[in-house]
Amino acid sequence: MARAHGRLLAASDLHAGMADNRRIVESLRPEAAADWLIVAGDVAERSDDVAWALRLLAERFERVIWTPGNHELWTPREDPVQLRGEARYRFLVELCRDLGVVTPEDPFPTWQGPGGPVAVAPIFTLYDYTFRRPRSMSKKQSLELAYEAGVVCTDEFLLHPDPYPSIEEWCSARVAETERRLAEHDPAVSLVVAGHWPLLPDPTKALWRPQFAQWCGTELTARWHVRFRPEAVVYGHLHIPRTTWHDGVRFEEVSIGYPREWRRRGHPFGLLRQILPSAGAGAA
Ligand SMILES: [Fe+2]
Ligand SMILES: [Fe+2]
Repeated sequence: MARAHGRLLAASDLHAGMADNRRIVESLRPEAAADWLIVAGDVAERSDDVAWALRLLAERFERVIWTPGNHELWTPREDPVQLRGEARYRFLVELCRDLGVVTPEDPFPTWQGPGGPVAVAPIFTLYDYTFRRPRSMSKKQSLELAYEAGVVCTDEFLLHPDPYPSIEEWCSARVAETERRLAEHDPAVSLVVAGHWPLLPDPTKALWRPQFAQWCGTELTARWHVRFRPEAVVYGHLHIPRTTWHDGVRFEEVSIGYPREWRRRGHPFGLLRQILPSAGAGAA
């Protein structure tokens, strides 16, 4: 039965380049004409798959808000678009604009439906290896151990930081720009912050392979949920769908994940997570 009122929904890690996940993307539909959808990165690797998925969703949902994951930023050999790093990101932003999809480069749209008004801030902040464990280990040592353990993120081979000399420097620039945008936001209007990587390291403690944490975020954002007090923080990347609370702020990991993962665990929260109205508000 169709809903009368819209919801602010979220999903990430659609990985639409995989046939079984493509079918999942094809099944994603709003329940109300006014539903919005946050897509928090890892839509696909090839730019044509990213375009296919975002076009489909933009046609169905009243508004789609996207922020990149590491997979969109890869430059796979089989992609006709061979742009790297920042140029690839800018290409994807333009692609989104053609589709009417909101990006981290646009003004924050305001959700006026149930649970609103709340501004939705898609953020793109990357990672800088500071979530490595133990933290006292150098980045070099930490990477060496990851190679020894065979737990190396494919980003090392396919995600290029051009024109920045390193991912850390690209990350630092993204964090500075994002922090400026968030600080400029009128604090009288609540925020939902949505990025691909978790803002703080705590969620990475649930990773099956702790070596992977170094590719999962930056300590530079670890206090943003306290400083900006968002209504909720949406993220993905870990492929561990769940809800956790940090300093009283709700964090929603909204990954769909790979077929081998969802075949094992199912979709414990459904395919699309309701962000607003918050379930605790009793208006769902
Ligand atoms: Fe992913
Ligand atoms: Fe990811």
